[in-house]
Amino acid sequence: RVFQGSLFTAADAHTVTFHRQALLCLDEAGVIARIIPTTATDYSTVRQAAQNHERLVVLAPNTYLLPGFIDLHVHAPQWPQAGLALDRPLADWLNTYTFPLEAKYADTGYAQRVYQHLVAELLANGTTTAQYFGTIHHAANLVLAQQCVRLGQRGYVGQVVMDNPDQTPATYRSATATLTADTERFILAVQKLAQSSRTTLVPVITPRFIPSCTPRALTLLGQLAHRYALPIQTHCSESVWEDQYVPAHFNGQRDTEVLERAGLLTAKTVVAHGTQLTAPDFARLHRTQAAVAHCPISNAYFGNAVFPVQAALDHQVTVGLGSDISGGFTPSLYRNIQQAVMASQMLQDGTTPTQPTGRAASRISAKTAFYLATKGGAQSLHLKAGQLAPGYLADFQVVHDRYATVMPTDSDSVFERLIYQTTPAEIQEVYVGGRLVHHR
Ligand code: GUN
Ligand code: FE
Repeated sequence: RVFQGSLFTAADAHTVTFHRQALLCLDEAGVIARIIPTTATDYSTVRQAAQNHERLVVLAPNTYLLPGFIDLHVHAPQWPQAGLALDRPLADWLNTYTFPLEAKYADTGYAQRVYQHLVAELLANGTTTAQYFGTIHHAANLVLAQQCVRLGQRGYVGQVVMDNPDQTPATYRSATATLTADTERFILAVQKLAQSSRTTLVPVITPRFIPSCTPRALTLLGQLAHRYALPIQTHCSESVWEDQYVPAHFNGQRDTEVLERAGLLTAKTVVAHGTQLTAPDFARLHRTQAAVAHCPISNAYFGNAVFPVQAALDHQVTVGLGSDISGGFTPSLYRNIQQAVMASQMLQDGTTPTQPTGRAASRISAKTAFYLATKGGAQSLHLKAGQLAPGYLADFQVVHDRYATVMPTDSDSVFERLIYQTTPAEIQEVYVGGRLVHHR
């Protein structure tokens, strides 16, 4: 199939490429074979051939192609409490609201209802790939994986491990003794499901965060990640409370050190939040090539701080974007892109007792935040997606610029308007691997 339309795609952290009325040619495998600009000598020939074979799709006026978004950090079981109890501190929110909610996924029927709804909602918001925390429950996690396959979203799915009796309730705790066997069973079940899936489906090693895990659990999970060459996800230096808990219980070591020693900081690791990361932490992330999921909305509530995303990029750390449902209230990465820009301005220009003049060179642009939601996220997962370019998976969204009649229509203005004004109502179609997975 060939799509004719104008498109935006991130070239790097500061540059967005625009093509007006290009031809996006997909191959049979759902990969972008070519992007043909109007100036190419064979533009008309290719367009005519596609039209003759009824394979040409021409976008409506004032609609644009954008890469599908990649949400690096979603707690699928927390969807029913999105927007609730966000005024509580992290530890209180986890114990009072979140752990009791997650414990309900022992009921796979409940998991079915929630996960089906969430995956469809993420697709409707333009998220074509998501990396999920599930719960400690094998069956419910497989339901989540099945919903990704059924609805056509690329899914990275983790079975949460949390076995520290000091930081977890008896009603919602992993068993240390069977942890390796339980996690292996989950890995194999997901890998089996992936064989019959048209999209990407990958099991992810998922220690919840260091406070909720015993040292033994961290070591065992590091070994499993190595043995199966799997991706890893966890939370890291999220808040002052969490960042101080870890050295107090692990001989003065910081989160990144504890993770690295357990074999959990690798090129396939994504750590979420990182508001408290220091320069040595960034050096460690750079050296191990681990990535950060920047969750700007959630950080305003539970990190109580701003992740210095520009500093991370300056340290050549890979960064993507995460909604952190339900630490963040919205399934929309558009809203997280907006918050990433706003928070970066407050970090630069706001003052605190420790940063009385703000933090210089912290501001990021809408282009950089868009890069995080697309190319940065794909690089974090080593997934050939997140860009509209030859050789990349045909994961994209068709969005309508509904204010075009009264606002400027040069490409820079359209790009920023799409970033700031797009809601699910403007996301007309969503494709994963060239297959239509959502339409209005
Ligand atoms: N730290 C440990 N668990 C969680 C969680 O579910 N959400 C957030 N934001 N932080 C966490
Ligand atoms: Fe989280």
